[in-house]
Amino acid sequence: MLALSSCCENDVTQNDPKSLISEAAIEARVVELAEQISKDYEGCGELVLVGVLKGAFIFLADLSRRLTIPRVIEFIAVSSYGSRSRSSGAVRLVMDVRGNIEGKHVLIVEDIVDTGHTLKYLIGMLDSHGPASVKTCALVRKAERAEVEVDVDYLGFDIPDEWVVGYGLDYAEKNRTLPYIGVITPAD
Ligand code: PRP
Repeated sequence: MLALSSCCENDVTQNDPKSLISEAAIEARVVELAEQISKDYEGCGELVLVGVLKGAFIFLADLSRRLTIPRVIEFIAVSSYGSRSRSSGAVRLVMDVRGNIEGKHVLIVEDIVDTGHTLKYLIGMLDSHGPASVKTCALVRKAERAEVEVDVDYLGFDIPDEWVVGYGLDYAEKNRTLPYIGVITPAD
């Protein structure tokens, strides 16, 4: 049988980033965003929430459950060339949405907007499917790092240019399930 106690001890020593946004602050902001989105899309029919893998999976799960309007969930996956700390700006589609979004209202849900290249690419790509509208929602944005202009219609927090992990965000696939957003110093 797996020795759970020794596994947990290892996780605790590994996960200790300094807190930037607490779990309570995230939850409060998610409630506010969900209220605003529900109000704005009231009477618009079914809203298609498009979560961007992998980072948006926790934010999407929490946000979508707080909405009071009809909604469906889609996922999309992209890959950017280079690491998040040194993005080349080139974005490639890895997995498209499964459902037909033609004539539907679409809300892209991102964990982070950094240079802005991914979101800009996704808006154009989803727009080409002929939706009724495409808007954007991101939990955090690093305004200082912006390389392209892109509208974030619903934003959780503007943050400084630090490497953040937790609540879906990773560093080399680590720390995604941390319940708060913390800061680390990456090795590269
Ligand atoms: C992150 C994030 C965005 C993108 C933002 O994804 O989820 O999709 O970077 O960066 P940009 O504004 O500079 O384009 P990442 O490539 O880290 O993949 P992941 O979500 O699978 O961790």
